[in-house]
Amino acid sequence: MKKETRLKLNEGYAKLLEGNRDWVADQLATDPTYFKTLSKSQHPEVLWIGCSDSRVPANELTNTKPGEVFVHRNIANMCVHTDMNMLSVLDYAVNVLKVKHVIVSGHYDCGGIDAALSNRQFGLIDNWLRHIKDVYRTHAAELDAIDNEKDRIDRLVELNVIEQVYNLCKTTIVQNAWKERDDLEIHGWVIQLDTGFVKDLNVSVSNADNLGKIFALSDN
Ligand code: CO
Repeated sequence: MKKETRLKLNEGYAKLLEGNRDWVADQLATDPTYFKTLSKSQHPEVLWIGCSDSRVPANELTNTKPGEVFVHRNIANMCVHTDMNMLSVLDYAVNVLKVKHVIVSGHYDCGGIDAALSNRQFGLIDNWLRHIKDVYRTHAAELDAIDNEKDRIDRLVELNVIEQVYNLCKTTIVQNAWKERDDLEIHGWVIQLDTGFVKDLNVSVSNADNLGKIFALSDN
């Protein structure tokens, strides 16, 4: 590696550690016991399932602090039934932390959605993106009727969030929690990168009433 490249690389890396030291100092200046308190426990009321995109950090977007939001992120904020990572996070959040809100948070200008809309091969990730193509297939009539390409992509971002909300509702984790308590809601949001604002899709679900017969699970 060229000396110049290595220097630049080290500089970027050192900036992160320096940033951490500054952040710790800032917190301690406001509250000398901040980390002592933080290290004791967490009681977040929210599970955030968002995209891995670096522009959509859960805490900054909601003006919340460490300890307030439990977070899972993956490409295009998917809730895939065989994803043990997502299911483990969901199980812990719902059954141990007893969160009251699960928010699937997509965003416009999502690279994952763009990639899924193309016919190109991207390699391994095609297996993940196919779940988005399935969402397209489910809503093909509506999406194909939208002439403007940007509007069509934006609508797929929204429909993908709605389908992931629905996917969460189909899990045994959420359905069994609903049998025990009535304070668990699943929500769908889309973040507008060009304004910073969240668009609530108003698809919040708090019971299995409208799940459809095939997805509603009995007790045994
Ligand atoms: Co994205």
